[in-house]
Amino acid sequence: MSDVLRKGIILAGGAGTRLYPLTKALSKQLMPIYDKPMIYYPLTTLMNCGIRDILIICNPHHLNDFKDLLGNGMQWGIEIQYKSQPSPDGIAEAFLLGKDFLEDKNVALILGDNLFYGNNFENNLKTVNQEKKGATLFAYPVSDPSRYGIVNFDKDTNKVIDIVEKPPNPKSNYAVTGLYFYDNNVIDYAETLTPSTRNELEITDINKIYLSENNLKVQILGTGMAWLDTGTFDSLQEAGAFIRTLERRQGLKIGSPEETAWRNKFINDDDLMALASEISKSSYGSYLINLINSKFKKKDELI
Ligand code: TTP
Repeated sequence: MSDVLRKGIILAGGAGTRLYPLTKALSKQLMPIYDKPMIYYPLTTLMNCGIRDILIICNPHHLNDFKDLLGNGMQWGIEIQYKSQPSPDGIAEAFLLGKDFLEDKNVALILGDNLFYGNNFENNLKTVNQEKKGATLFAYPVSDPSRYGIVNFDKDTNKVIDIVEKPPNPKSNYAVTGLYFYDNNVIDYAETLTPSTRNELEITDINKIYLSENNLKVQILGTGMAWLDTGTFDSLQEAGAFIRTLERRQGLKIGSPEETAWRNKFINDDDLMALASEISKSSYGSYLINLINSKFKKKDELI
C-alpha cells in the first residue's frame, strides 16, 4: 500500500494507573467497551478515514496480546504493524517510534483509549484525510478543562491563539481530543522536542509548533458528536453503557472492524461471511451475518 498519502498510528501504551488493579496484568486498551475490546473503536476510526496502513504502539508486556487479537490486519483488508514503547514517555514519542513506519507519509495519530461517535463524522474524516499540508485537530467542550490540552480562541475572530496543557485557569473549555492529523514534518518537529517538567514529550508542544507556523486547523466537534475517553472506572463504565444503549436502540454496531472493512470495501461479501461464520455463536457474529443477508434481501426487493 505504498501509494497512500497518510498512515495511521494507534498509541496504546501507557500504564493505565488510574484503572489499577484492572490494568495490572491487562492492557487498558484491551478492556471491554460493552461488546468489543477498546482498541476496536480507535482502529475503526482510522479505517473510516480510509487509512489501511496502521502501526500499533504498545507497552512491551502487551505486544503479544495485541497481536493475538488483531494479527496483521489482512483479515480486514488492512496492514497492521507493531512497535513497543518501553515506558510512557509522552504522546509525541509516537512519531519517533513510528519514524521508520511512516517514511515520507503523513500521519493520523489516535489514542488507544479515545472513542469518537457522531453524525457524518466519517465523511468529515475522509475529507481531513486528503489534506496534504499542516495539522488538523479536533476540539470538544469539556466540563473539567484543567485536565486537558485546551484551545484558546480569539473572541472576535475565533482564530486559535494558543494551546495550553492542563491550564490551572482555563480560558476556554475546548479540549484537544486524541485524534491528530499531521503532515510528515511532524517527525522533524518531534525530534526537536525536549521532555516537559512531567518528563514527557508533549503533543501540545507539537501543536504549538504548527500554530506558530500558521499551519494548524482546529475543528470544533459540536452537538451530535460524542468524544469519550475511558481512563477511569466511571468513564470506562459510561462508555460501555453509551455503546450498549446506541447499539440496542438502533440495531447497529459501533466500532466493528469487520463491518467497517466491508462498508469501506476493504473486504467483500465472502470475506465478511467467512469472518462472521467463525464467531456465529456470538451475537456479534450473527449481527455480521445479518448485514450480508439484509443486503441481498434489499437487492431482491429492488427487483
Ligand atoms: P494517559 O491517560 O495520559 O495515560 P494512561 O493511559 O497510562 O493512564 P493513567 O493516567 O491512568 O496512568 O494516556 C492517554 C492515552 O495515550 C492512553 O491510550 C495511553 C496512551 N499513551 C501512550 O501510549 N504512551 C504514552 O507515553 C502516553 C503519555 C500515553
